[in-house]
Amino acid sequence: MKMDAYRLLYPMRTYLIVSGHGKESNVMAADWVTILSHEPFMVGVAVSPERYTHRLISKYKEFVVSVPSLDMLRDVWIAGTKSGPSKLKEMNITLIPSMKIETPSIKEALANIECRVVDARDYGDHTWFVGEVIGWSYKGEAFKNGKPNLKSKFLAHAAWTDFVTFEEKYTKLKIQKMTSASLSSEYIVFLILTLFCPTSSAIKSIDSSIKPGTKGFNSLHTSLFTNHTFRIFS
Ligand SMILES: Cc1cc2nc3c(=O)[nH]c(=O)nc-3n(C[C@H](O)[C@H](O)[C@H](O)COP(=O)(O)O)c2cc1C
Repeated sequence: MKMDAYRLLYPMRTYLIVSGHGKESNVMAADWVTILSHEPFMVGVAVSPERYTHRLISKYKEFVVSVPSLDMLRDVWIAGTKSGPSKLKEMNITLIPSMKIETPSIKEALANIECRVVDARDYGDHTWFVGEVIGWSYKGEAFKNGKPNLKSKFLAHAAWTDFVTFEEKYTKLKIQKMTSASLSSEYIVFLILTLFCPTSSAIKSIDSSIKPGTKGFNSLHTSLFTNHTFRIFS
């Protein structure tokens, strides 16, 4: 079965991107989000020019990265398959004022990261929006003791309708056993397991039972390169 090569980087976390002001506010799902800098804190998101969100981020030069939980999967799916602010009527989210920008945050989200756009560049068929983070809010329960509380069911995306959440399997790693000079064989086994079997052991799969929606995001691959070389390991 043919597979898009970008899927090789999956599973990825799924986020909600809020854009626009007031009645024009909109929400879309986005996997292609990353941290770019710690100090100042900056994030990047790849948004196709086809998205309504693209228009709003370009207009207002701000966006919010909201962190959904598994409990918000239905809303994530609507945000990721329908276009324009009218979809919000179908969603069960509450837009609330952000701390530092006019683009609203999502009350039900585990965290909201408020960004002011400092750069926007087109790479292939997506625009890479760079946001400087100037405000944020989060649920205390979801980030206990300065780290994510996996019981809050952070959401990740495996493939199209398959979503996953994380299980706290390897809490007390055998890190104490590691010395700077050598890695214990147990730790190497652990690393191999974590790297190559994430879906089977560290991450719990969810049967989302969601049917594909009206609008897809599978058609994004117009390539800069004419010759793709790939190999499938057995
Ligand atoms: C889980 C998921 C992740 C997605 N990630 C992205 C992404 O990173 N970038 C993008 O441009 N579209 C992405 N999409 C597609 C958009 O969310 C989708 O086209 C949405 O309908 C756009 O809404 P809008 O037109 O209201 O902005 C994703 C869709 C889903 C379901």
